[in-house]
Amino acid sequence: MTIRKAVIPAAGLGTRFLPATKSTPKEMLPVVDKPAIQYVVEEAVAAGLDDVLMITGRSKRTLADHFDSVPELESALEAKGDTTRLAEVRRSTELANVHFVRQGQPKGLGHAVLCAKQHVGDEPFAVLLGDDLIDERDELLTVMLALQEKTGGSVIALLEVEPDQVHLYGCAAVEPYPDAGDPDQVRVTGLVEKPDAADAPSNLAVIGRYVLNPAVFGVLETTGPGRGGEIQLTDALATLASMSPQDGGGVYGVVFRGRRYDTGDRLDYLKAVVRIAADRPDLGPDLRAWLTEYVATLT
Ligand code: G1P
Repeated sequence: MTIRKAVIPAAGLGTRFLPATKSTPKEMLPVVDKPAIQYVVEEAVAAGLDDVLMITGRSKRTLADHFDSVPELESALEAKGDTTRLAEVRRSTELANVHFVRQGQPKGLGHAVLCAKQHVGDEPFAVLLGDDLIDERDELLTVMLALQEKTGGSVIALLEVEPDQVHLYGCAAVEPYPDAGDPDQVRVTGLVEKPDAADAPSNLAVIGRYVLNPAVFGVLETTGPGRGGEIQLTDALATLASMSPQDGGGVYGVVFRGRRYDTGDRLDYLKAVVRIAADRPDLGPDLRAWLTEYVATLT
């Protein structure tokens, strides 16, 4: 079955970016000249997922506005003959079928994913976390979709991190999965949400891309609050890892070695803006020239 649906949890409060996120959703912060969320939707669409469900909360209305059309802006640009900007404005509207559902109560990532149950139904689907930006030149989601199709289970994205960073992430215990024919595709045998360094089963951190078997919904319904008193997607995945394939169990991992930015972190956000702008044909040459001069003044 071809996977068409992507779920994007976007109900978080964005506290790491206050005061910028006091009245603006963190997903709307610009990365160069597009809101962060648009990169994530573009990534989903590039992988063939054109049915996008965003799980939002109060004060997230601008997210819906961004993917809607703005007739008065479009006619003003049309009247001016500004076809380039007109195309940019229309792009986010035409990109995908974007749907919205509200989480209501902030009960955690697992609970947010459970809010997608009715929309997704009984088919595998992807989950993309808005804070994680995967460079479009590096393949990840397509590899994960292929592995899900091959195994029928659920697939998570893993990143090797320094041991002192593991406590910020879900952490996976893995073993080789020779059938994949790629040492970076592994079987997941256990998962712990944000472990202390001493309890971490590895230095493989879960990053914000998942391709899930719909059995995850039944598991989430019976998953109690975990770390931080929240219903954790990581805990549901740990249960799936111990379930049999006939019941929709089995969890696999793809170790990602490309460029990933955590746009919810201020320093990583700045790096993302600089790296993406430096590679853009319109801004890159001038930015690189200035950066070189600027860096020389720092030493
Ligand atoms: C969530 C997940 C965590 C994962 C992380 C990736 O945590 O709960 O397992 O490693 O996303 O970004 P959060 O960053 O929302 O606290």
